Amino acid sequence: MNKLMNIRKTKIKNSIIIKPFDCGDDDLNEFLFDKSKDYQQELLATTFVFEDDTKTYAYYSIFNDSFRIEDITFSSKNAVKQFLRHLLPHPKRHLKHYPAIKIGRLAISKQAQQLGLGRRIMDTIIDYATNQNEQCACKFILVDAYKNAVGFYEKMQFEYFSDNDLNDETRQMYLDITPIVNARKNVS
Ligand SMILES: CC(C)(COP(=O)(O)OP(=O)(O)OC[C@H]1O[C@@H](n2cnc3c(N)ncnc32)[C@H](O)[C@@H]1OP(=O)(O)O)[C@@H](O)C(=O)NCCC(=O)NCCS
Repeated sequence: MNKLMNIRKTKIKNSIIIKPFDCGDDDLNEFLFDKSKDYQQELLATTFVFEDDTKTYAYYSIFNDSFRIEDITFSSKNAVKQFLRHLLPHPKRHLKHYPAIKIGRLAISKQAQQLGLGRRIMDTIIDYATNQNEQCACKFILVDAYKNAVGFYEKMQFEYFSDNDLNDETRQMYLDITPIVNARKNVS
């Protein structure tokens, strides 16, 4: 755990030099080195790295999104209704689109995996989404989870939209932050 003691969170911008990073996945590595600055510049995704003076240990990239019912393949109309009832008990508030933040990418370097950094980043994203509600509503955190990472998101309390992507390389998952926002309201 010691190697993570001195890491700091830094927002990607053109002037920073991205330090060496390898999470074991070429696409995720490539995004950090070749695309994250352009996405930042074009306001398509905001990327943060966790680094020390010599290495990058993790990064994540997020943007505003919306969850659209029509984007999910449900097995029947009844399944849609059931899903909506699970989200919102009040049928009059059932909408076609819901405000969200999307985790475009999240990756931990091979040497720092399984040390709690993913959870720490998820807490940071949840904090951000929770605070954002003070100014602009956001109900969900969304992710297209890699098959090998769904167990991690399950641990973080994410749920599946449907079983129709069960055999796909990525699965659409969501975290409803309403209970978290409400719990914090009751504490303050
Ligand atoms: C998946 C990933 C983000 C998890 O981050 P991490 O820092 O290794 O995870 P943490 O150490 O914070 O683990 C938190 C919990 O999730 C569990 N967990 C972590 N990775 C897991 C996985 N791939 N499958 C199942 N459970 C996992 C841990 O065991 C831990 O459980 P515990 O709280 O009961 O002890 C990271 O391993 C990674 O970047 N992998 C390679 C790239 C990738 O797949 N990115 C996801 C793209 S969607």
